[in-house]
Amino acid sequence: MTSLDSDTGTAQAPDSPGGDPLYETVARRLLAQIDIGALRPGDRVPSVRELSRKTGYSITTALKAYEHLEALGAIESRPRSGYFVRLEPVKARALPQTIEVAQGPASLISTDVISSVLETITRPGQVPLAHASPSAELLPTAALHRLTRSLLRSDPAMATSYLMPPGHAGLRQQIARRLADQRCEVSPEDIVITTGSMEAINLSLRLLCCAGDTILMESPTYSGLLQVAEEMRLRVVELPNHPQHGIDPDDLRRAIRRHRVAAALFVQNFNNPTGSLLPEEAKREVVRTLNGHGVPLIEDDIYGELGYGGRATPLKAYDEADLVLHCASLSKTLSPGLRVGWVASHRYRRELIRHKFTLSTATNSLSQMAAAAVLESSLYDRHLRTFRVTLARSVARFSEAVLRHFPPQTVVSRPQGGFVLWIELPRNVDGLELFQRAAREHIAVNPGVIFSANGSYQNYLRINCALPWSAQIEQALATLGRIASWMAKRG
Ligand SMILES: Cc1ncc(COP(=O)(O)O)c(C=O)c1O
Repeated sequence: MTSLDSDTGTAQAPDSPGGDPLYETVARRLLAQIDIGALRPGDRVPSVRELSRKTGYSITTALKAYEHLEALGAIESRPRSGYFVRLEPVKARALPQTIEVAQGPASLISTDVISSVLETITRPGQVPLAHASPSAELLPTAALHRLTRSLLRSDPAMATSYLMPPGHAGLRQQIARRLADQRCEVSPEDIVITTGSMEAINLSLRLLCCAGDTILMESPTYSGLLQVAEEMRLRVVELPNHPQHGIDPDDLRRAIRRHRVAAALFVQNFNNPTGSLLPEEAKREVVRTLNGHGVPLIEDDIYGELGYGGRATPLKAYDEADLVLHCASLSKTLSPGLRVGWVASHRYRRELIRHKFTLSTATNSLSQMAAAAVLESSLYDRHLRTFRVTLARSVARFSEAVLRHFPPQTVVSRPQGGFVLWIELPRNVDGLELFQRAAREHIAVNPGVIFSANGSYQNYLRINCALPWSAQIEQALATLGRIASWMAKRG
């Protein structure tokens, strides 16, 4: 441990470069020691208390650094023994490749493929590795039920009337408060409650774009967003999304110079499917570039709260021109069925309210009331704190099992938040065929092709890890691995 001591021997926490959270600075130092061989596979790393004492950082920072390293697959905790450098760190470190995308607008992949995948994965009785949706067992489901019942008893009139756009005042206040904690200048009046994040994004796109317009998206990205783009007959220019640090601001500058862009639509806080996180400095650059060219950004921040090291800063925090429409929901953190989301924008609030009314009149009142009550109580933050750790552990466990069961050339993403795993299979393994063969075994997964506009990522899969670990899951991953190995050998 001497090198760690000497590295941070001044005991005072220095500023973290690039505005990264402190725990990342600590984690990076430890990673560097693993890289140069100062810490070898199997070595015990200092206890959390020791690390805190030696580095001068708080116990919380030291613990977060270890949780971060664990989620990255660099170290592992052993019950009652402490943290150790993983025995196979090199294997865990390879990352799925980002596929270079053509510079012009992509002709969107057929939504028929997406629809047929959706139809298959929603069949009952399958091991649910497909939907990016946390199991109800990992969410405060019982507390939410109790609260909803008591709201219905205490205020039946409100619960059964319209709660018209912009929506529940207390809920908007809570969302604004949380965004203010993230340095976003948003008042409750700038927030419009929507039916999930998808409605927020739909409203924003419909406000900013017409058929034939060009928008920027990252690749890979969430298939639902590609479906909206296709339905609206938009042209999509894709920016490659690195599985660790997201889009490259230089690619964005080039794309903006080359195309007339109506809007950008990015998921840069724990992107679905890669789990990537755009670093702080790049966030600033991306927003500055878009602001400078007058291009509105629809920020899908649905996973922002689920960083293993804490909440990730929304891009909205860097929005000096009031051109970022911040969209999110409680679907990934509290309850997908609640259908409560929002869009926050001062500039566009009036049009958003109008569009919301014409699209769906209002969002479910009882849901809005329940969401407000949860956010007002300490329940939400308490839940998030444990949920983040649960997700980091779960993703690490799934990832370890995939690397154990799948063919040797398989590589997996190292998400920094969220709960999906992006898997690159050997080149000759077709993800769509694997998806079909898995469905016959009652295992639902998502093939990689549905996450890009141009049909890339054919030998990729995405799996959901927000499930309690069980023998059934282990068995399902083993079955997927067996099919993938057979396909790889078949050639
Ligand atoms: C990136 C992203 N955006 C939006 C959604 C849909 O969110 P909601 O259920 O709140 O409409 C999802 C769901 O998987 C998602 O992954």
